[in-house]
Amino acid sequence: MNVLVIGNGGREHAILLALKKSPKVDKLYCMKGNAGTAEIAENVNVDYMNPQAVVDFALSHPDIDYYVVTPDDPLAIGIVDALEGVGKRCFGPRKNAAIIEASKAFAKELMKKYNIPTAKSATFDNYGEALEYVRSQGAPIVLKADGLALGKGVLICNTLKEAEEGLKEIMLDRAFGKAGEKVVVEECMRGLKYDPGEEVSVLAFTDGKTIVPMITSCDHKRAGDGDTGLNTGGMGTFSPCPFWSKELEEEVLHKIMIPTMNAMNAEGRTFKGCLYFGLMRTPDGMKVVEYNSRFGDPETQVVLPMLKTDLMEIFEAVTDGRLSDVKIEWEEGACVCVVLASGGYPVHYNKGDPITIGDVGDCTIIHAGTAVKEGKLVTNGGRVLGVVSKGADIDEARKKAYAAVKNIHWKNMQYRTDIGIKYRQG
Ligand code: AMP
Ligand code: GLY
Repeated sequence: MNVLVIGNGGREHAILLALKKSPKVDKLYCMKGNAGTAEIAENVNVDYMNPQAVVDFALSHPDIDYYVVTPDDPLAIGIVDALEGVGKRCFGPRKNAAIIEASKAFAKELMKKYNIPTAKSATFDNYGEALEYVRSQGAPIVLKADGLALGKGVLICNTLKEAEEGLKEIMLDRAFGKAGEKVVVEECMRGLKYDPGEEVSVLAFTDGKTIVPMITSCDHKRAGDGDTGLNTGGMGTFSPCPFWSKELEEEVLHKIMIPTMNAMNAEGRTFKGCLYFGLMRTPDGMKVVEYNSRFGDPETQVVLPMLKTDLMEIFEAVTDGRLSDVKIEWEEGACVCVVLASGGYPVHYNKGDPITIGDVGDCTIIHAGTAVKEGKLVTNGGRVLGVVSKGADIDEARKKAYAAVKNIHWKNMQYRTDIGIKYRQG
């Protein structure tokens, strides 16, 4: 099979590396890709946010059998529907199911209707009413722009003043554009053991009939060590989650995952693809923080290296609705990904700085914002590389990853030194 992956980041590079191991796969393509994907796939320079351009490409490339649509924005505009419309097989939800991420108001409504545990919330499209509700609830309180906002549309407000300012930013100043037409005002959840609360990402394969959780992982969203600084797209991940257990898996499967799959079916929005559950362990049990309609980034970078089963076989089973036939197996041990970012990320940062990569041992270097300019590898984004290491446990994987980091350089490179050390008390 010839397979094309849509997207440009570390997650797509990690998916391509997993597909490359499959005996079913001949040639790989990436639309548009980066310098890392170019090493294992043919990069295709087509705007994947333009459905007509994607369809034209697909029609002129009958040799490409299968499309993996990964990022949230092409899923939200229906790129899977467009490709299926011209007879292509795809991995990823259709537009009517991708709404589970594309509208937080939809997701909250779904959870309310089907009794799926999550933070209490109310949705508003009127600023005055939202303000009144925020004042009646008091701080701490969480504000979420309804639509897609590059992971930045969530404000955790510790004081009423912050909340009032945040509401104005989202609804009146439109800091996140159209995403702020509606706002979800949410109770601030607390963790069972940690403050801020302990979070775990559980990605799951589903064909709408069966849902199979992958190995767990934990992200580090803040830019600085000790969870300080601004929120980012994710500065590093590790797998598995230290506080995970068989009991939690049972609870999540039966109270959250299966009910969510069934709810989407009942709404006539069958979800096929990778459904991402962002969860918090609270004194009242596991609760949903967010759904994503896709693989997480950088969670995928630590989850897929642990997968023993052929990823292409799983993708095809999801497409064909026979996921229950596939036995999905995971390696023992642990995996860590340390993200290397451009200085100044997530605000202002430079592009085009030359990168040097020395001895990285047996680590895998995942490319995100990279390009080749005049034959040289250069930075081309905020998050630039991910250093991925496996080990017998998280400490061994961490040690190898940070040893490799010491041999990677560019001007003003920044990274967190504490990836993988949280939730040690279980
Ligand atoms: P989201 O984009 O919805 O995942 O939100 C980003 C981050 O904000 C989450 O990973 C949590 O750390 C935090 N967060 C979101 N909603 C809540 C909530 N209701 N209570 C506490 N923290 C939250
Ligand atoms: N790592 C969080 C996300 O992919 O949205």
